[in-house]
Amino acid sequence: MIRAEGLTKSYGEGIPAVRGVDLAVPRGELCVLLGPSGCGKSTLLRLINALTRADSGTVTVNGRDVRNTPPELLRRGIGYVVQNVGLFPHYTVRRNIAVVPELLKWKKPDIEKRAAFLMELTGLPKNYLDKYPFELSGGEAQRVGVARALAADPPILLMDEPFGSVDPLNRERLQRSFLEIQKTLKKTVLFVTHDVSEALIMGDRILLMREGQIVRSGTPREMVFGEGDAFSREFFGAEMALKLLSRYRAQEACARAGAEGKPGCSISADLPLSDAFAMMLVKGCDRLTLTRDGEDAGTLDFYSLLRFFREGGRNDG
Ligand SMILES: Nc1ncnc2c1ncn2[C@@H]1O[C@H](COP(=O)(O)OP(=O)(O)OP(=O)(O)O)[C@@H](O)[C@H]1O
Ligand SMILES: [Mg+2]
Repeated sequence: MIRAEGLTKSYGEGIPAVRGVDLAVPRGELCVLLGPSGCGKSTLLRLINALTRADSGTVTVNGRDVRNTPPELLRRGIGYVVQNVGLFPHYTVRRNIAVVPELLKWKKPDIEKRAAFLMELTGLPKNYLDKYPFELSGGEAQRVGVARALAADPPILLMDEPFGSVDPLNRERLQRSFLEIQKTLKKTVLFVTHDVSEALIMGDRILLMREGQIVRSGTPREMVFGEGDAFSREFFGAEMALKLLSRYRAQEACARAGAEGKPGCSISADLPLSDAFAMMLVKGCDRLTLTRDGEDAGTLDFYSLLRFFREGGRNDG
């Protein structure tokens, strides 16, 4: 569990970058920190990771004050994805990934196996392990940054815009594979983004930050359906309901199994619910046959989609 109380940090004169922040990320929660550029997100992450000293306030990780925790212990327990990557330029991708496992004296074959797994997870070819950071594109380097943070399987992850410069296709893939592993590993994650869609898809809870303060927090559904002030509405306008649809798979809103759909309108049951809705709009059909492995997996109709969406499919408020 990560807990911050009364955290304040200024870099000099003027308004502090972080102003009296209280937050708690319970064990196993994926908490998204969302806010405009310069609002203090990276500073907050650095404070939590004890890379920057706070002017006042405290941070504890599993009840222990980070300032009194030996740095090696902190680095082992917390995987950190640095904004704009920060790979070691003179290390190959393999060595970059191996930094913490080597610190922990993992056996060589275990490190190699882990590196191969992480390359697959982040969608990079295995022969990239021998490349140097300067031989990678920005998005590829960023994925290596994610692999490095995950290398020693730390229970806590601080991720600062981890998918920021990854192309939309790979970004979606990374988001989904990360959520997939999160389902089983249940890490405690603080995930920074300024992308509202990403926040809605990834977050168990969202913290909205403005000028160094957390001004609103809630589940993705609460953020979209709830009332907020003008600043909050700039982020969570009605069109974000469409983005919230992508949190769910078509299957989750499926009304009946085996009922007939209109011929020609079928979609894979595992695609996002937003894709199913888009297909209804484009094809002009209000019922879709859901398929899995070529088999009929049920019917999704417009009203069951509406009902599902209003009532909330996941147990997330
Ligand atoms: N090392 C530093 N020295 C002085 N000022 C800094 C330093 N780092 C950040 N700041 C200032 O503190 C404020 C918060 O910066 P921070 O990097 O935390 O924002 P951010 O929310 O992460 O922004 P972005 O979304 O652009 O990454 C900004 O006004 C920034 O100019
Ligand atoms: Mg930042």
